[in-house]
Amino acid sequence: MSRASQSHSHSHSQMKLLLSILLLAAETGHEQTMGAIAGQQPPITREGCPDKCGETSIPFPFGMARGCFRPGFQVVCNHSFRPPRAFLADNGGRTYQRMMDQNYTGPSFRPGEPLRRNKAVELIDVSVDKSEARIYTAVSSICSTSGTHAVGRYAFTYLDKAGPFLASPVRNVLVGVGARVEATMVSSFGETEKAMAYRPSCLSDLVGNLQFATDGECSGRGCCVAVLPPEAPLLTRFVAGFRPRHRRPGWESSPCSYGMVVQSSWYNFSTPDLYGYEALSGRLARGVPAVLDFAIRKGTCPPDGQQPPAGYACVSGNSSCSNEARGYVCKCSEHYHGNPYITNGCQDIDECKLRKQSHELRLLYPCSDDGICSNRVGGYDCRCKPGMKGDPIKGHCTEKFPLPTKVVVGIAAFIVVSVLMVMSHQLLKLKRFYEQNGGPVLKGVKNIRIYRRKQLKQITNNYRHIIGEGHFGKVYMGTLEDKQHVAIKISIKVDKDMKKEFIDEVIIQSGMRHKNISGS
Ligand SMILES: *[C@@H]1O[C@H](CO)[C@@H](O)[C@H](O)[C@H]1NC(C)=O
Ligand SMILES: *[C@@H]1O[C@H](CO)[C@@H](O)[C@H](O)[C@H]1NC(C)=O
Ligand SMILES: *[C@@H]1O[C@H](CO)[C@@H](O)[C@H](O)[C@H]1NC(C)=O
Ligand SMILES: *[C@@H]1O[C@H](CO)[C@@H](O)[C@H](O)[C@H]1NC(C)=O
Repeated sequence: MSRASQSHSHSHSQMKLLLSILLLAAETGHEQTMGAIAGQQPPITREGCPDKCGETSIPFPFGMARGCFRPGFQVVCNHSFRPPRAFLADNGGRTYQRMMDQNYTGPSFRPGEPLRRNKAVELIDVSVDKSEARIYTAVSSICSTSGTHAVGRYAFTYLDKAGPFLASPVRNVLVGVGARVEATMVSSFGETEKAMAYRPSCLSDLVGNLQFATDGECSGRGCCVAVLPPEAPLLTRFVAGFRPRHRRPGWESSPCSYGMVVQSSWYNFSTPDLYGYEALSGRLARGVPAVLDFAIRKGTCPPDGQQPPAGYACVSGNSSCSNEARGYVCKCSEHYHGNPYITNGCQDIDECKLRKQSHELRLLYPCSDDGICSNRVGGYDCRCKPGMKGDPIKGHCTEKFPLPTKVVVGIAAFIVVSVLMVMSHQLLKLKRFYEQNGGPVLKGVKNIRIYRRKQLKQITNNYRHIIGEGHFGKVYMGTLEDKQHVAIKISIKVDKDMKKEFIDEVIIQSGMRHKNISGS
């Protein structure tokens, strides 16, 4: 290999190296931006704590690892499921679901010995904003297998009475499904007189008229719904049951009745749920969602201006505290969102970005179409576009200058523009004449001065004295500024052919150096 080609290939490989370094740099740069974007998601739990179980986010005060949750908020992630599932920890056997199976036999449907089985309460999701967690609760059912035998399956939910959770009386309803069923909800299981007296129930009666069942609404025809009065006793234990338990005329075509305590508006009645053995509870085997309110049960909000006690939960800046039934909850202040239960959890909301996402958010952060939205820490601004005024948050912007003003300004502008156009047109015309009459040639000739028409008018005293008539026009008597008398020759229209002749005549005349001749 010659030296030249060696050095050539050397520089070639150097270039290649440089190129790949550049590429690498570009790639890492890309990764860094991606990381920065992902990093913009504020943390939902304490540093070093896992924040997910399978697909479920676990925000503090909920948590799985030691030191990652407040008392009562422990979550157990069960990895034997794919993907893993989250469950509320049983808190020493105080939080669980109990499934109770019972046979009813004979003409009087005598209840047999019940069979009990406990299982963990599965967590669906957590909303720190709403202080809510959703859990699966099993559907209760009672099914006839013959005219003298029925099988009942009841799903009791037990929540630790001293724990952070209460079933929400507002966000849940009792639903009954069946050809003839009176669904009831029993809560607190007879511990107090008040709880015993409180039994919401609803009735569906369609025996012999199953064809009147319609999909969708729970209207009492195949499906019924009862709201839970907001003054319901603290709901830490509840079950959906039936009354009476087992009278089942028409059981052949529609053998089962169902009852559930479920998030309101979640269940849509579908007529196939009326037919078949365990059709509904089989379809929803994992359970139906029920909404739990959570709160910090120990303590109350510190009075204004007082140092919060140790262990106070609302630790984020820009957060506030609100007293609840048996405790308190933390909220991010207005215009902040995130997790008030962790340090720096509440972050500024970008209202302008958010309001583009949905109609509800647009209503929540109003800014009219003729306003310009801009985010700021602790709020947002919405200002009118230039040339407009008003309050685009509460209403609309209006033009600063009303229509009549605009019309007047418009007309004035039109006039000015027109005048300018006419003037420039005149100038062009003048230039054309000047060129037509050999101005550029004459300008270069010695002894020739070029005057404007206005100046000539002055010199000739408004063309008063004609002193002769030449080939190309009349000759006038004129007086220059220095009182010198001159003869002014005004050309008549000069066409192209005559142009050269005219110019020559003028040049010749100027060459005559007659003391009183000046050309124009
Ligand atoms: C996970 O779930 C399986 C199946 O339900 C159960 O047998 C097991 O005990 C659970 N594991 C934990 C750690 O709860
Ligand atoms: C109910 O009866 C069936 C047989 O008819 C039996 O297999 C089942 O174990 C019984 N269940 C209970 C809870 O007693
Ligand atoms: C019930 O219907 C509503 C509206 O059609 C729908 O948004 C919702 O997901 C349905 N619920 C279920 C459990 O399918
Ligand atoms: C509230 O948030 C703003 C900016 O996000 C920050 O400057 C301020 O210090 C916060 N207030 C508190 C009490 O932390």
